[in-house]
Amino acid sequence: MPADIAQLIRDIDAIPGHSRFGRVTAVSGLMVEVGGIEKELSVGGRCLVETRDGRHIPCEVVGFRQGRALLMPFGALDGVGLGCRALVAGDQPSIFPTDAWLGRVVNALGEPVDGKGPLPKGPRATPIRNNPPNAHARARVGEKLDLGIRAINAFLTCCLGQRMGIFAGSGVGKSSVMSMLARFSGAEIAVIGLIGERGRELQEFITEDLGEEGLARSIVVCATSDEAPLMRRQAAYMTLAVAEHFRDEGRNVLCMMDSVTRFAMAQREIGLSAGEPPTTKGYPPTVFAELPRLLERAGPGLVGSGSITGLFTVLVEGDDHNEPIADAVRGILDGHIVLERQIGERGRYPAINILRSVSRTMPGCNSRNENELVGHARRLLSSYDNMAEMIRLGAYRKGSDPQVDEAIHYQPALEAFLKQGKRESTDLATSYALLAEIFGVQWPQ
Ligand SMILES: Nc1ncnc2c1ncn2[C@@H]1O[C@H](COP(=O)(O)OP(=O)(O)OP(=O)(O)O)[C@@H](O)[C@H]1O
Ligand SMILES: [Mg+2]
Repeated sequence: MPADIAQLIRDIDAIPGHSRFGRVTAVSGLMVEVGGIEKELSVGGRCLVETRDGRHIPCEVVGFRQGRALLMPFGALDGVGLGCRALVAGDQPSIFPTDAWLGRVVNALGEPVDGKGPLPKGPRATPIRNNPPNAHARARVGEKLDLGIRAINAFLTCCLGQRMGIFAGSGVGKSSVMSMLARFSGAEIAVIGLIGERGRELQEFITEDLGEEGLARSIVVCATSDEAPLMRRQAAYMTLAVAEHFRDEGRNVLCMMDSVTRFAMAQREIGLSAGEPPTTKGYPPTVFAELPRLLERAGPGLVGSGSITGLFTVLVEGDDHNEPIADAVRGILDGHIVLERQIGERGRYPAINILRSVSRTMPGCNSRNENELVGHARRLLSSYDNMAEMIRLGAYRKGSDPQVDEAIHYQPALEAFLKQGKRESTDLATSYALLAEIFGVQWPQ
């Protein structure tokens, strides 16, 4: 390249880029109203609001009202006042993950928060907000995925590209199940979103639950409960975006999120601040529009690419499994694992109620023998459950019903099978073998 052209390029590069900005005209609650640039902005676009002391707070456009743009911040609004500048910062940013992201912890903006230095940038951009793959071009769910928990492997088998919910009231063991899955699953890569949970749990999860080995094949995205609602919501989008990057490379990714309820709550805060009407339990309509848009991003990829197996925890408020978020999520996913407080109180963890849980890929993914074995065990659990009250009261007389007698006989062994310590893992084949052993069945058949 001739020297004068090179010089010319350097000169052009040195010209400061122009920036367009408006001014803050009102601040109320979490919302910043900006005037002067509304024609240049669109919903989902970005702005940087300058504080009085010169810091820049990233904000997102969430709506327009009376000719002014409504922005929400990704951080606290301290230092923002009337007349502060709001700079237009372009559209939704993208991330550039690579394999070097494995073992790292990032925040909702894709910045490293683990103190291990800067994150390398990959060659391919992945948008943070993305659409699910075209439903008509998607592959079917793949082969079985080993999740390391006996009760799930045998009774609620999960396949590659399947999306399951883990439903429970507060403190019944959602996060514990999640940490077992993160550590024991046979997935190649795990992307774990910790959305709106406690700050204390984050370190515990990374150092104790995941451990070095688990972390080495994982990427953790986190936004704790004290962060701005926009950060919490975006952390969920970020989790899926990282998973999508690896799926598009043809890998089978396990995407876990704890919890989807906190994502819905963040969207509730955003929607209500933007002036949406509240509907059931104060959730505005956009919550029910955003949930499927988020959850549908997990699942099988296009034919020939990888898959995202999704495991999402849902906090059911007041142990009411029909509350609106649980209901909406259950309808979107391909299966649900229900954890029950009474079972936990009995001391059986993970407190999975097998009878109320469903994997919608079963029985299709199983062999005939496996289905027979699991079906038999389920029938016994159900017989016992129907009579449990009577049996406990001593009102059931042995010999009245052979099926119930059989259920009572096998109950202790089945309970022991379902109980599993947090540090103990059982692979798929062993799960079936152990279940078969209870009934004295030769396995594999
Ligand atoms: N496999 C297990 N073995 C023994 N105890 C367990 C097991 N799983 C959960 N627990 C008990 O249940 C408690 C709550 O678990 P966890 O924090 O996972 O619940 P959670 O549903 O995520 O709660 P929250 O709704 O508050 O986030 C734990 O502190 C632990 O005592
Ligand atoms: Mg939890």
